[in-house]
Amino acid sequence: MNPHSVRISGWGMYAPERVLTNADLERVVDTSDEWIASRTGIRERRVAAAHETTATLAAIAGKRAIAVAGLDPDDIDVILVATLTPDYWMPSTGALVKEAIGNTRAAAMDVMAACSGFVYAYSVADAYLRSGAFKHALVIGAETLSRFLDFSDRGTCILFGDGAGAVVLSASEEEGGGMRGLEMTTDPDGAYMIWLPSGGSRSPATGGTLARGEHYVRMEGRETYRYATKTMATTALKAIERAGWQPDEIDLFIPHQANVRIIESVAKGLNLPMDKMFVNLDRYGNTSAASVPIALAEAVDSGRIEIGDKVVLVAFGAGLTSGGIALEWTADPALGKRAASVEPVASVREPLDWSSVDPIPERLRQILEGGGPPVPLDDVVPGEPEPAQREVLA
Ligand code: ACO
Repeated sequence: MNPHSVRISGWGMYAPERVLTNADLERVVDTSDEWIASRTGIRERRVAAAHETTATLAAIAGKRAIAVAGLDPDDIDVILVATLTPDYWMPSTGALVKEAIGNTRAAAMDVMAACSGFVYAYSVADAYLRSGAFKHALVIGAETLSRFLDFSDRGTCILFGDGAGAVVLSASEEEGGGMRGLEMTTDPDGAYMIWLPSGGSRSPATGGTLARGEHYVRMEGRETYRYATKTMATTALKAIERAGWQPDEIDLFIPHQANVRIIESVAKGLNLPMDKMFVNLDRYGNTSAASVPIALAEAVDSGRIEIGDKVVLVAFGAGLTSGGIALEWTADPALGKRAASVEPVASVREPLDWSSVDPIPERLRQILEGGGPPVPLDDVVPGEPEPAQREVLA
């Protein structure tokens, strides 16, 4: 039987303990706290410890969301993990998370739409629940971007951070509430504006691809910025219109936390004041698919969202993708306190006969350990990224 509505019943987040400040980054690339803060709004971000992975971050956030919903892990029927930094190409991070949260019965999978991933995954889970196929879905956005960054490229390494956020969506017999309007776009014209060249079928990983740093995120910052400022407000507006609402009726926007100037342009595009936009990128940087659910959890827990509020989630990312969800909030924000009962630990099954390398990039390790010789700046100023080269495979 189809439910009357599909609502957010739980929410939660987890960010690794280790803080990486702009001052820390000044030690490895030619940048400054002043430049990063004024051009992006970012002051610090979190980086995962060596024992942490996308699955462990996701599992902690997921367990918190389940606790807030007042459910047992086994009440979850389907798990969707939005990520562009999975633990492995296979199995899916979702499969690992399922076991780590103590669930024995859910279907689990990953959703890949970069920074729009959480919004996309939410819409998929919502559709399952509306169809009557499942009753409770766990939707997680989780990233360990610090493992995929070139810490000699000042154009990218200053922007991103690690973390995870999650919601539980539940089918409800009550009318109203939950997602009322959805908009999603995918524009391959910008497919190579943000990309990770090697490790896929087009360019399998080899010594050569590694030597050229093709396993790291590459980005045309200025072009991406232009796209984001064009698309975010339009995407939000379409989702709002589909809900039958007006922009000035929205109580709070939860925009993807990429750059405060992009968020300012969304406010401007919708003719709204900045206090309608939730911003926490100063503390976390851009955590890609995790950024919207982390911001949502913080917004609810800090009293910015109340029952009956109209809330808009809006994101853009590699693809280029964008996604917007206009929703009516129905859960008691006080339930967020239940998340405190979940310790920030997660145990993810290890492979039997294989052990990983130290996962922390060498340049990042130098910053984290705070020691070692200073890196000469002329050694680390990035040039234009070389175009991907095709290698003749032996
Ligand atoms: N520190 C100091 N100087 C820098 C840095 C840095 N970290 N990075 C770039 N610069 C320099 C550039 O080299 C350039 O110098 P030049 O004028 O001598 O050539 C100058 O600063 C200006 O560079 P721009 O790229 O024009 O700077 P801009 O104001 O556009 O800011 C930024 C760059 C922050 C990357 C911005 O373009 C941006 O936020 N773009 C969007 C990125 C984004 O949101 N990506 C996430 C996508 S989501 C996903 O799916 C992963």
